[in-house]
Amino acid sequence: MANNKTGFTSSLGVVLAAAGSAVGLGNIWRFPYICGKYGGAACLVVYLAFVFLIGMVLLMTEFVIGRRSRHAPEKAFPTLCPKHPSWKWVGLFGMFSCFLILTIYLVISGWTVGYFWESLTGTLAAIPNDGFKEHFDAFASSTWKPVVFLIVFLVINLLVILGGVQKGIEKVSKLLMPILLILVLALCVRSLTLPGASKGLDYLFHPDFSLLNWEGILAILGQALFSLSVGMGTMIVYGSYIPNESNILKTATWITVCDVCIAVLAGIAIFPAVFAAGQSPAGGPGLVYQVLPLVFNSMGKVGMVFAILFFLLLSMAALTSSISLLETLTAWLSDRGMKRNRAALIVSVLVALLAIVAAYSFTGGPLSGITPGGKNLFDWIDRLTGAYLPPMGALATIIFLGWVMKREDIRDELSNHGTLRIAWFPVFYNILVRFLAPLALLVVLVAGIMGV
Ligand code: PHE
Repeated sequence: MANNKTGFTSSLGVVLAAAGSAVGLGNIWRFPYICGKYGGAACLVVYLAFVFLIGMVLLMTEFVIGRRSRHAPEKAFPTLCPKHPSWKWVGLFGMFSCFLILTIYLVISGWTVGYFWESLTGTLAAIPNDGFKEHFDAFASSTWKPVVFLIVFLVINLLVILGGVQKGIEKVSKLLMPILLILVLALCVRSLTLPGASKGLDYLFHPDFSLLNWEGILAILGQALFSLSVGMGTMIVYGSYIPNESNILKTATWITVCDVCIAVLAGIAIFPAVFAAGQSPAGGPGLVYQVLPLVFNSMGKVGMVFAILFFLLLSMAALTSSISLLETLTAWLSDRGMKRNRAALIVSVLVALLAIVAAYSFTGGPLSGITPGGKNLFDWIDRLTGAYLPPMGALATIIFLGWVMKREDIRDELSNHGTLRIAWFPVFYNILVRFLAPLALLVVLVAGIMGV
């Protein structure tokens, strides 16, 4: 499928596009909250261990599978192991996960673009301090607002995908990622210089191991994988676009470091400001759409500027991730023979439909009464894609690399056909890929599901 003509043009392009996929709502919306909830620095230590020992290993695994096969996930697995074509189901499982993640992404991004718009037009600034909860509830449960903004966001995605891998994805990532870094740093500086900021840092970094239970460990693992975009085939697709001469270890290291840094910086940008404004941290939508706008308003006039910057940051981070999801699904269908533009359009329409249903199922929305098992559709998809699906896909993928694919092929791919020295390979393959990562995934998954 992909060769150097249709793939990324350089290693820098790969790093920025894949880091764009990795840095997303997960970093800004979910990570700081998980970190606070599960023991601050205690959570951070576990998170870093998972990210580097499991997440990064998976990133390399998916890159190897993608670049070696030059196919999207459904065909990639059978191409590398023609004797067992049923491995294609792991690829298909990934497509299912991507579809669901994209659904949730569209809903949240729709709100974000909506809030960006409202911060630009001054609507947010005019809301009294006790009115933000009501405002968000009215916004999210309105029949047209979330849908209009969700569609605007999806159309932007579609335009990027129609632009192609090089002129669409790579170009946009090269433009947006540096801006994103500058924005997050600017927000950090503002947040840290507010009086009383240290309480926020304390909340984020003070280690409290008593808050770490199995459920938390599964949530942290899910977050580590979700955040690196592994376990659902996205990085297999991006891997199939990596130029032959790129060094996979180096590329994966850069992406991982970028992802972790932005997540931690997002925490530093958010919590000190929240505490300085005398608010308490809440999770998910509560934090981003109710607490933060209030925090911005309490900064006076400049707060408006920071509100605009923050929602712009969040929209951009969401965009570079959602294009990777849309690209994965598009690449999958075009790998099966469909025309690329047609594939992108079909996926967009289907995902928009489910996203609208999910948006309507949110608290107060027209479908919020449907709550099987006590959760609405939005919460179900969020839970599934946040904690369960990524570790499942990741486990199957790493077993494939460690126990099914030929060792020599892996070595050949990682060493760029013997041109790179890879003295670390035996440790990577014999310890991390074959034992440590799969066992850790299995234990955490089983313990988390059984609620130990
Ligand atoms: N990594 C993205 C985030 O942190 C989410 C994502 C998952 C994107 C899987 C693509 C594929 O928000």
